[in-house]
Amino acid sequence: MDAHSILIVGDKPDMRKALIHALDGAGYSVETASSGFEALEKLKKNECSLVITDAVMAQMSGFEVLEKIKKISSEVPVILITADGSVDNAVEAMKKGAADYILRPFSHEIIQLAVRRATKNRNGGAKIKAQNGHSSSDQKSKRIITRDPKFLNTLKLVENVAQSNATILIQGESGTGKEMVASYIHHHSGEKNGPYVAVNCASLPDSLAESELFGHEKGSFTGAMNRKIGKFELANRGTIVLDEISEMPMSIQAKLLRALQERIIDRVGGSKPVPIYVRVIAISNINMKKAVNEGKFREDLYYRLNVIPITIPPLRKRRNDIPFLTDHFLKKYGPGNGIGAKKMSDSAIATLLNLEWRGNVRELENTVQRAVLLSDGEVILPEHLFLGEIEGEEKDAVKIRPGLSVREMERKLIFITLKDVNENRTHAAEMLGISIRTLRNKLHEYQEEGK
Ligand SMILES: Nc1ncnc2c1ncn2[C@@H]1O[C@H](COP(=O)(O)OP(=O)(O)OP(=O)(O)O)[C@@H](O)[C@H]1O
Ligand SMILES: [Mg+2]
Repeated sequence: MDAHSILIVGDKPDMRKALIHALDGAGYSVETASSGFEALEKLKKNECSLVITDAVMAQMSGFEVLEKIKKISSEVPVILITADGSVDNAVEAMKKGAADYILRPFSHEIIQLAVRRATKNRNGGAKIKAQNGHSSSDQKSKRIITRDPKFLNTLKLVENVAQSNATILIQGESGTGKEMVASYIHHHSGEKNGPYVAVNCASLPDSLAESELFGHEKGSFTGAMNRKIGKFELANRGTIVLDEISEMPMSIQAKLLRALQERIIDRVGGSKPVPIYVRVIAISNINMKKAVNEGKFREDLYYRLNVIPITIPPLRKRRNDIPFLTDHFLKKYGPGNGIGAKKMSDSAIATLLNLEWRGNVRELENTVQRAVLLSDGEVILPEHLFLGEIEGEEKDAVKIRPGLSVREMERKLIFITLKDVNENRTHAAEMLGISIRTLRNKLHEYQEEGK
């Protein structure tokens, strides 16, 4: 073994063989150890460039191997391999300093990519930047403002996992900043100069979803006049964000599973699979576990996506952030546009601190923006916040009187809700307690009726 070798650790000969096969072919020199003890012995005597270890072994687990290696030489990257998609393990591995965490079955491409990535980072590559107290200073990603210890911890974890290829599932209520965090991950990853492609799964029409995601060949179906490159291919060597993943049509879920497992995609009508190297971030504002239990989402796909779970706390669980966020938005909307700097009165801040914030940071942002525009002086008073007042229309809509049809009530409720959330359908659907798909269908019906 020398400084360029890769050390494979595992007590199952099949797994060792599969890894040797993947790496030998790509020109790496490979060494093996059939237990953690043997691996540590070898490492004490000689250097190596990288360790790949099975997580589950009869004697010493891969996690122990990882910990012990980090004590001997914290520089050597360690990749863990496991068949168990358990989330705690992935998070644990990342916290303990694993360079990557790969689920079985894996393709040769995945292994080779992970190895390239892990060794690249080591050779003078991207070191994880320290957080400067309360906000990310990355120029390209928008600043995430928080001083909440739990959220700060989440951002630290995010910076660690950004370096790996592990798939990330971001969950949180509407308006909590999920998309911001997705972009933050991209900008902290080794692919930050690569493409960033965001897809809203709720707006993928069932019939075209497959071709949107995976592309199609010319003439593969009526209307396919030219070859189309799908989102996955567009995101190659970068990041693909699958927003509102719970709304992914069932018919596509199996294909997505294959793309994640094997890192290859099939263009519609294509004859050969296309390899893709992309980081996948899925986002959901509904509880995905629940969607699985209700039979709306494939369980196997859920586990594939949920390798690293990130949950963003709602604003009402981190009220201390409210003054900082308010300040941030005052600066964002205040100076410029012919508006001078403004500040909140103590009573306005007190009001903001006491609200429920079902619409989270987005709602706070809208409230501050409105207050900046509607207050005359330099100081914003509680009455400038215009909370819960959607004049006229709201009164009209909630006026329940005999003769008003349920359908008409529903229609009005939907419209004032949409208006209240600046036409954000995701947020509106959540407030109304219906799925975004149902909301879309209803809007479509109203449109048809209006013709
Ligand atoms: N921590 C934060 N610091 C600064 N701005 C924030 C923060 N969190 C959210 N925002 C702002 O709030 C708005 C909503 O954020 P974002 O779009 O990321 O939310 P989301 O969770 O994806 O919402 P939805 O579920 O409705 O799609 C954005 O304008 C974003 O800039
Ligand atoms: Mg979003």
